[in-house]
This record gives sequence, structure tokens and C-alpha cells, in this order.
Amino acid sequence: MEKRTVATQPIGGQKPGTSGLRKKTKVFMGPHYLENFVQSIWAGIGGAAGKSFVLGGDGRYFNEQAAQVILRMAAASGAKKIIVGQNALLSTPAASHLIRKRKTDGGIIMSASHNPGGIDEDFGVKFNIANGGPAPEEVTNRMFEATKTVTSYEILETQDVDLSTLGTRDLGGMEVEVVDPVEYYAELMEELFDFQKIRDLFAGGFTMKFDAMHAVTGPYAHEILERRLGAASGTVLNGIPKPDFGGGHPDPNPIWAKPLVDLVMGPDAPDFAAASDGDGDRNMILGRGIYVTPSDSLAVLAANAQLAPGYAGGLAGVARSMPTSRAVDLVAQAKGLECFETPTGWKFFGNLLDAGRATLCGEESAGTGSDHVREKDGLWAVLLWLNILAETRVSVKELMSRHWETYGRNYYSRHDYEAVDASRAEAMMNALLGKLADLPGAKFGVGVVESADEFAYDDPIDKSRSEHQGIRIIFEGGSRIVFRLSGTGTVGATLRVYLETYESNPERIHESADAALSGIISAAEEIAGIRAATGRMQPDVKT
Ligand code: G6P
Ligand code: ZN
Repeated sequence: MEKRTVATQPIGGQKPGTSGLRKKTKVFMGPHYLENFVQSIWAGIGGAAGKSFVLGGDGRYFNEQAAQVILRMAAASGAKKIIVGQNALLSTPAASHLIRKRKTDGGIIMSASHNPGGIDEDFGVKFNIANGGPAPEEVTNRMFEATKTVTSYEILETQDVDLSTLGTRDLGGMEVEVVDPVEYYAELMEELFDFQKIRDLFAGGFTMKFDAMHAVTGPYAHEILERRLGAASGTVLNGIPKPDFGGGHPDPNPIWAKPLVDLVMGPDAPDFAAASDGDGDRNMILGRGIYVTPSDSLAVLAANAQLAPGYAGGLAGVARSMPTSRAVDLVAQAKGLECFETPTGWKFFGNLLDAGRATLCGEESAGTGSDHVREKDGLWAVLLWLNILAETRVSVKELMSRHWETYGRNYYSRHDYEAVDASRAEAMMNALLGKLADLPGAKFGVGVVESADEFAYDDPIDKSRSEHQGIRIIFEGGSRIVFRLSGTGTVGATLRVYLETYESNPERIHESADAALSGIISAAEEIAGIRAATGRMQPDVKT
């Protein structure tokens, strides 16, 4: 076993976003690419020497090979210990939990989330800090700076470590502990939720399908839903992680998880259905004959969380990203809870969770979570739903109806215009910005504009300010249009138009979202000239 210092030179474009560095797998497999970045991670955190880390990934192509490189580099740089999931697997929330539980100095998660996997698809590497959450920008900036100056990296020359069997082994003086990726996470879920109640629910004939989409939540769902909670075998669909996720996009939404949506809308619908994404942090919730929007799911969870033991003492507060519908605000208002509106991106919840100001958080982009970890958590959301259904013993449809009868309904839809010419999209946003001051008081078919602004966020904890976070146009009576350019698109620009209208009349809470939103959709076109700017008559994707 020999330690080697390998000469290298900086490789352009290794700038980590909030979800780490994401590139085509082949790029990551290129000479020194992964090694340069890992060496820069060490540089960004003040070195690896004497530290302990968690390591795991979503099982996509190159996952285990990358883990072996990271282990050899950590050992060569003097790290004390790495806790790694068996076969290098860990879901993102499970990694977040393990970092917190074992009090490590952070962790490395190998994932490109809901992006497709395979040699011709995507790979990613992300660093989470000791609180279990993604590294903040000042840390990722230091990593990026290091990628521009790296001239060598340290690595052990040795055989692969056995990651297939549990236990502790030595790698050049560094301890490698291979742990069951599910065990600690499942224990945490048992603390938060009433497993006996949920077991009784299943024992009474309640049926469920969980689509793991050939990704990392398969083993978690098999263990928790089928083994610990007694759901029928076959409840978990696509439960064996595959390096290419079966060729699809492991993204739990009505487009990529269409077979599941078709199932709940058809004659053989189970009582409850759900799906999660590549790395297990996103979720989709369905019931017999109903799709629950992520915004509504957040509101329902906030209204009923106290039914689960982990939240029986009530919530400290709730938070949602700005484009997420205001359904949760109504619950917060009724319960006298603080409600925060943050920019898009899970990282903005971190300070509120650390400070104990918010307990539940959620985003329209299928992320829901709480202060139990510092990532959004797909299976956690599913289990909280199950706990609520086990306590209330009503159908998902009935639960939603009761919710809307109590709070009114925020009809909601997101229209995406993908791969739009970037300069035209920006010109449209700029033209809109120029118009904002004149909008209040203006009349459209749906009503009068009450306010219009560009969203900026002042973090109440660290007092930092984040500007240019999307345009909001709010109408009297509660309708709202939000315009934003996606921060995660890869080709051109993706324009997202978030449409919301509020209905408190119980006679009118069961319409289709498209019908209820038609007035607000026309107003969005009238105000922004979306068709002219994008050259599209219709959105490419509606969620
Ligand atoms: C990632 C983040 C989410 C965020 C989403 C927004 O998935 O983890 O927290 O909501 O990106 O994506 P967008 O494409 O709308 O910028
Ligand atoms: Zn994800």
C-alpha cells in the first residue's frame, strides 16, 4: 500500500452548485476529473486530516468506482474514519441523518438526484457539512477556487476495499466502517412515527404502491414498508436500484411516474401510492383517484403533523419556497404558527431548521421535510402521510376534501417552457421587471392586481439578503402568478410560470385545476407575452 502524489492541472468548469458538482458521467470518468474535485473538497474544508466523514450514493453508474477513489484519497490525506453505506449506497436523507447521528465532520454524497443515470447520462458529487445539510456557498466557493489551482492530489495505491460486507476494516491507517444503509434511517423513522398504528392499518387491508423508480429508495422501502410495517409484498415497485434507473428519469412527478398515476386513476387503484426520486429526497403523493400537489401535501402535513408521535408537541413554524402555493400559509394562520417564505432551494431552510424556528418545510418541486435531517426526505413524507391516514382512517380523497372545506383550496399549476432561447427569456423577465411598478391597480379578467414585485429574501437568522428570486404578481382575493427562470436547467433557459388561485366556496373546491386556473393563465399571457417571448403556444410541461 503506497501513498502517491499525482501531478495534475486544473480542469475548467468544476463549479459546484447547491447540489454539488453535476456533469455527464463520462466527464467524471475522465482523467483526474473526480480526483481534482475531491482534492478541492479537502482544500475547501481545511483539509481531511484527522476528520471523519460519511460516504454513499444513489447507486447510479460509476457510484462504487467513485467511492473507491474517494476512500483511497481520504486515506492518503490522513482522514481518520469513513462510514460508508454497504455497496456505497446511501439515500441523501439517510446520509444527512448518518452525519448527524455519528457526529462526523461531514459527508460526500454521490448523486445527480432525479437526473437519469448511466455511462451516457449524469453523475454528481456533493459535500454536506456537519449539520447534515449541503455545504453553504462560502464553502463551495472555496472548493471552486481550489479547482482552479490544484496541481497535485494524494491517493493510496491499493486494492479496492470490500464494501459488500458490513464491518470495519483498515485502509492505510484510516478506518472504513461499512454500515447497513437502511438501519439507522429506519430507526429514526420508528422514533418519529407510530409504526404500530401503521401496521394495524395495513393489517386491516389498506393497500399501497410505492414506486422506487429503480433508484436508491428501493431497499429502504422494502425494509420499512414491507418488512417493518407489514405492507403486502409487491407494495414496492421497481425496488432494486439499477445503475441506469431502468433507462428512465427517476423523477417522481406525473410525467416520469405516469404508470403510477395511471394506476391510481384506474380500476385497480390502491388506497395510497407514492414515489421517490434517484437519491430519495423528493416525493409524490397519490390516493385512489387523486394526485396531491406538493404544495397541498405540505399544507395537509402541517395541518395534521401532530398526529405523529415525533410532532405531537406541535410545530415551531413552517416554511415554503416562494413559488410554492400559499395553502400552508392558511394552515399556519389558523394554528398561529410562524410561516416563512424563502427563495427556491432547500438550503434556504437550513438556518430556520437549525434555529428551531421552522419544523416543517416544503417546495412545489416535490420536496418536503422537517428538522429530523437537513435535506428534504421522500420516504419521511410518505410515512407521515401513512401515520395521518392510520390515525384518521379516511381516504386520501376525503382527507383532501376536508382540508379544502376547512381552509379553502389553492388551485395550483406550474407551466414550464424548456430550452428556450436564453437571451429572449431574460429579455422577457427584464421587460416584466420594467412593468411591475405600473401593475398594482390594473384590471384583468381575474381581477385587480394588488401588488407586484421581484422577490428578495432577508434571512431572519444570519441576516443575509438574497435578491432576484423571481417575480410575483398578486391579485386581490388571493390569485397569484410567479415567473422564474430555473436554476437547474441544462439547455438554454427554462421559464417557469407558477399559477395559483384561491377558492373558499365549498361548492367550488372540486373543479379541475386547469379550469379553475384558466383566468389566471390568460392574465399571465397578457401581462408577460409568454408566447411571443418563447415562440411556444403551449408550455412543454405542466405539473
Ligand atoms: C433542486 C433543489 C430544490 C429546488 C429545485 C429548483 O432540486 O434541490 O430545492 O426546489 O432544484 O429547481 P429549479 O429548476 O426550479 O431552479
Ligand atoms: Zn433528489
